[in-house]
Amino acid sequence: MNAPILTVNEITKSFGGIRAVDGVSFEVNKGEILGLIGPNGSGKSTLFNCILGQLTPDSGHVSVNGRGVSGMRASDLNKLGVGRTFQQLSVFPKMSVLDNIILAGQEHHGTMLSRLFGPGDAGLTEEADKMISFFRLNHLRDTLAGSLSYGQQKLVDAAMAFMAGPSLVLLDEPAGGVNLTMLANLKDRLVAYNAAHGTTFVVIEHNMEFVMSLCSRIIVLAEGSIIAEGSPDEIRSNQTVIDAYLGG
Ligand SMILES: Nc1ncnc2c1ncn2[C@@H]1O[C@H](COP(=O)(O)OP(=O)(O)OP(=O)(O)O)[C@@H](O)[C@H]1O
Ligand SMILES: [Mg+2]
Repeated sequence: MNAPILTVNEITKSFGGIRAVDGVSFEVNKGEILGLIGPNGSGKSTLFNCILGQLTPDSGHVSVNGRGVSGMRASDLNKLGVGRTFQQLSVFPKMSVLDNIILAGQEHHGTMLSRLFGPGDAGLTEEADKMISFFRLNHLRDTLAGSLSYGQQKLVDAAMAFMAGPSLVLLDEPAGGVNLTMLANLKDRLVAYNAAHGTTFVVIEHNMEFVMSLCSRIIVLAEGSIIAEGSPDEIRSNQTVIDAYLGG
């Protein structure tokens, strides 16, 4: 067995009286596509934010490749090969698709000064163009991101997260609000990226068909705690999970 790429140990986070995440522990294996599901407000995004340094957990630890990363800033996690997408779109609507993707690449290359006075972005443009081809966005390369369909913007968002060449990416609802054609496209591209680069994904999603067909293993959160973990088939037939979703 290879060592886990991500270890989450007893993470707890409260907001006032609400215990949003309540002692959550799990591991993610290298190259795995893990699903994280649960009803609205069950703590999924809060858990991501605790793992990725956007929030400081009240207690618990996170390790990446066996190295403790608790308290580390998101920008430093990026350097360790950890990326993310947000539940809300983070594309710049008044910039072209190409410039959005180049900008995401620049975040991971050098300081602001070296960006301003450095040798330009020739290398990054080439890298961004490869990413655009991979996501089949060539025809939209020079279009303003804000004028794309929502699903196309979600693809750009994913392409931006991959510009750093991460080994682990946490995706918060990549398929939220995306139409069926784009959904199939997105899933196909994620699977292809995982196969080509061995990149590990943890995917939060409400679209069950998307999660069940994309992920090899699924963790279910309810009210901040893990209530089930297993293969898509096991999760589909798990009565506790069915009850949690139906509010039973
Ligand atoms: N910054 C915050 N301040 C106060 N309460 C918060 C904050 N962020 C989240 N919460 C609360 O924590 C709980 C978990 O929220 P979270 O956004 O993590 O859920 P989620 O599982 O991602 O939900 P969804 O599926 O709707 O995105 C909810 O009760 C939410 O209202
Ligand atoms: Mg959320």
